[in-house]
Amino acid sequence: MKKVGIAILGLGTVGGGTYQILTSKKQYFAKYHNLDVSVESVLEINEARLKQLGVDPAIVTKNIAEVVSNPNVDIVVELIGGIEAAKSFIITALKHGKTVVTANKELIAKYWHEIEETAKANHTGFYFEASCVGGVPIIRTLTESMQANEIISIKGIINGTTNYILTKMADEGRDFEEVLKAAQKKGYAEADPTADVEGFDAAYKLSILSSLAFNVKVPLDKVYREGISKVTKEDIFLGKELGYTLKLLAIGKKTPAGSEVRVHPTFIKNEHPLASVKGSFNAVYLVGDNVGEIMLYGKGAGALPTGSAVVSDIIFAAGKADHFYVPFINSKDGEKGVRFNDDFSCEYYLRMSVIDKPGVLAKIAGAMGSNNVSLREVIQRGTAQQDGSVTLILLTHITNEKSIKAAIREIEKLTDAVVSIDAMIRVE
Ligand code: HSE
Repeated sequence: MKKVGIAILGLGTVGGGTYQILTSKKQYFAKYHNLDVSVESVLEINEARLKQLGVDPAIVTKNIAEVVSNPNVDIVVELIGGIEAAKSFIITALKHGKTVVTANKELIAKYWHEIEETAKANHTGFYFEASCVGGVPIIRTLTESMQANEIISIKGIINGTTNYILTKMADEGRDFEEVLKAAQKKGYAEADPTADVEGFDAAYKLSILSSLAFNVKVPLDKVYREGISKVTKEDIFLGKELGYTLKLLAIGKKTPAGSEVRVHPTFIKNEHPLASVKGSFNAVYLVGDNVGEIMLYGKGAGALPTGSAVVSDIIFAAGKADHFYVPFINSKDGEKGVRFNDDFSCEYYLRMSVIDKPGVLAKIAGAMGSNNVSLREVIQRGTAQQDGSVTLILLTHITNEKSIKAAIREIEKLTDAVVSIDAMIRVE
């Protein structure tokens, strides 16, 4: 039976889950994978955590040099998160001939090129199933199960915190700030929620997933990003009446004008499979040219779901004679000449407050028309407020980002007709 020695760097939530799975499933791995998997080293300074998990003090260290010089360690699992010291530890491990498994999406999104280059130079493996969508096996699906397809599009709810918040806002009619505070109290949202609510976490994952889906490096700065902190319950409810559910969607598409990669609040039809993904659950919806539509659904975070992805990488890497490297040019800025389209097209929902008097609609429609934006539906809500304003909802036909933004700029100048433009939400 093949012996596989593991070092775990960091025993936080995912590190703990990984340790638990590795120790509790030892017999299972021996029986069904013919692997004798043992945790040989743990790098962690939190004594209470080590005790809580029952880690043998003999394998605990505070020193990365001790980990990488340990001949019994074959695979180093980095679960510290963030850029430093995680990056230096990974590079050091690879240079010492260790294969690395990580859940660190930010690090991959920013330094994948450097890490992969080091792995290749040292003939070691670098695996990161747990970096995207936790327990949902999306990376291996893209790299190992879709060979017969060109992926046309990838759409995902790939951040559980924001999906939890949007679900609560929709189901309970509460404001963003109120739901966020409650989620933080319960530990569902981080004390500093920026990475999640402003879409950074989803953008990291989308840059990785769309690179793998389209076989072309998608640098992080090519991902358009908008979070959910400005989403109002009013728009969620108006959207619902119009047949839409609001989600923070990560979208990657191949178009004739180049790849489109974007993360933003999006209205999707209530009947779309992604609309039924609620709470902290995640899902990825792929369209391949031969297979058609596929949806993977599950938990995108948590000790055991993410630990499940980490351990699946360990078992996968342990059984590999030749390691997997991505098939595209993985330089920092990607391949020269590859086009990305930031003037993407979709339908748009606009909510504005306008003066309720003759000729107002004509002016707004004129500004839309002169920018080549075609209107699909116009809805006036309620009766005039004290200041004489009413709410106007506009739904456009498919148009492009530059045109709608130009139209909005023109409408904003109609100060005798328009009080404010309060929301612009893309509709897929
Ligand atoms: N914070 C992420 C989420 C999980 O809320 O989905 C890890 O990426």
